[in-house]
Amino acid sequence: MMDPHLIEKYNVAIPRYTSYPPVPFWQTEDVQEKQWTDQLINGYNPNEGLSLYIHLPFCENLCTYCGCNKRITKNHDKEAPYIDAVMAEWDIYRAKFQDLPVIRQIHLGGGTPTFFKASELYRLINYILSTSVTAPDHEFSFEVHPTSTNLDHLMALYDVGFRRISIGVQDVSQEVLKIINRRQTIEQVRLVTEWARLVGYTSVNMDIIYGLPKQTQQHIKDTVNEIIDLKPDRLAFYSYAHVPWKSAGQRAYSEEDLPQGVEKSSLYSLGKVLLEQGGYKAVGMDHFCLPNDDLYVAYQNDQMHRNFMGYTSKYTTCMVGLGASSISDSWTAYVQNEKSVERYQETIAQGRLPLIKAHFLNNEELFFRKIILDLMCKDRADWSQMTGNLDTDYLHPLRQDQLIEFTDHSIDVIGNGTSFVRNICAAIDPIYSLRTNQDVPVFSKAI
Ligand SMILES: C[S@@+](CC[C@H](N)C(=O)[O-])C[C@H]1O[C@@H](n2cnc3c(N)ncnc32)[C@H](O)[C@@H]1O
Ligand code: SF4
Repeated sequence: MMDPHLIEKYNVAIPRYTSYPPVPFWQTEDVQEKQWTDQLINGYNPNEGLSLYIHLPFCENLCTYCGCNKRITKNHDKEAPYIDAVMAEWDIYRAKFQDLPVIRQIHLGGGTPTFFKASELYRLINYILSTSVTAPDHEFSFEVHPTSTNLDHLMALYDVGFRRISIGVQDVSQEVLKIINRRQTIEQVRLVTEWARLVGYTSVNMDIIYGLPKQTQQHIKDTVNEIIDLKPDRLAFYSYAHVPWKSAGQRAYSEEDLPQGVEKSSLYSLGKVLLEQGGYKAVGMDHFCLPNDDLYVAYQNDQMHRNFMGYTSKYTTCMVGLGASSISDSWTAYVQNEKSVERYQETIAQGRLPLIKAHFLNNEELFFRKIILDLMCKDRADWSQMTGNLDTDYLHPLRQDQLIEFTDHSIDVIGNGTSFVRNICAAIDPIYSLRTNQDVPVFSKAI
């Protein structure tokens, strides 16, 4: 059990560092398409290939807890025009490459990718693969909502090379699922898992969350026990992010319904103990793996990475995000697409990339980007071979609390420090320290 004083002290609103700098600190609103695509082409290495993230935003029902960019609709006529727009966006990108681009990773995220008919998903992926080269060690994955996924989806995507699925479970108790308006049963989760294995998928990931409204220790116990029984290869055990200023659905329940601080942290501690007893290994900030999973192997070999899609064992410097709200990354620059589906489709129809925001990193930001990534992936950063320096002044309290050790050129996360990696990153981040007096909510709490 973690020291309650530590939890109280460090449970402040803080960036998640899915990018460095975090999106609220990006500086360019008026994005020049050519400036971005030049950076992308410069950063691209055909031996490494590209990662594609494809955002498929539609869902039939709103889960009130959800913090993702989604569009709720039951109108399936929206499928074909959206897929056409994503194909046209891909055409704009691929025309920039001298030779056919090499694709190493594809991830279909959402929203709910399986809102789309299997034939539409097949049409999209088939088109992308017929206009590119597939890397021999490619990894294609997609997010699966248990209530909208059928055998056709699993077979169609298997046929175009998908071998990994990620099933949204969140919690198994009907009590919690009802509050978050998520109509699903554990039997549906079980069925989709069995189908996926029968079809030939070699890796099943599941997402669960701690800190959901009215969630108790018993709910975590029941959820983790079911998960251990289903034996996914990999598990994301996310901290519920409460961002009601951004995700209005979260206003459907009261903040008093949310486990917070020590109570929330004890939900994580319980889940972690049960998962470790069940044979899972903790990896990074919020992942667990069976020991033979390639993410765990990458973690042990210091080869694990993290990008907008989460932790990954297959890393490429360049990631192209297709679809409304998607983020792309060339390592030296980030861009984000238009979030509105209509405006996204209109801009693509005019033959332009629908870019609304960008950030071009300077040398200092590239230095901090690497250090923060290392802390999150390796629990250690060493900048003795890098050009740049950081102010270690803010690290002393973290050392006193036995969360880190540090020298003038390295930081090691120790003991309970793994639960406070976001705080450790924030302590060295020169941009974050400029706005510790923020009065506008921007980030979710650390725990
Ligand atoms: C796009 S959703 C999953 C795909 C599919 N729509 C589903 O619901 O099964 C991606 C994941 O983000 C996580 N997520 C969404 N909102 C969250 C929040 N407020 N806090 C923490 N995790 C969240 C959930 O674990 C979810 O499975
Ligand atoms: S959790 Fe998944 S299904 Fe529910 S609203 Fe969010 S993206 Fe849609």
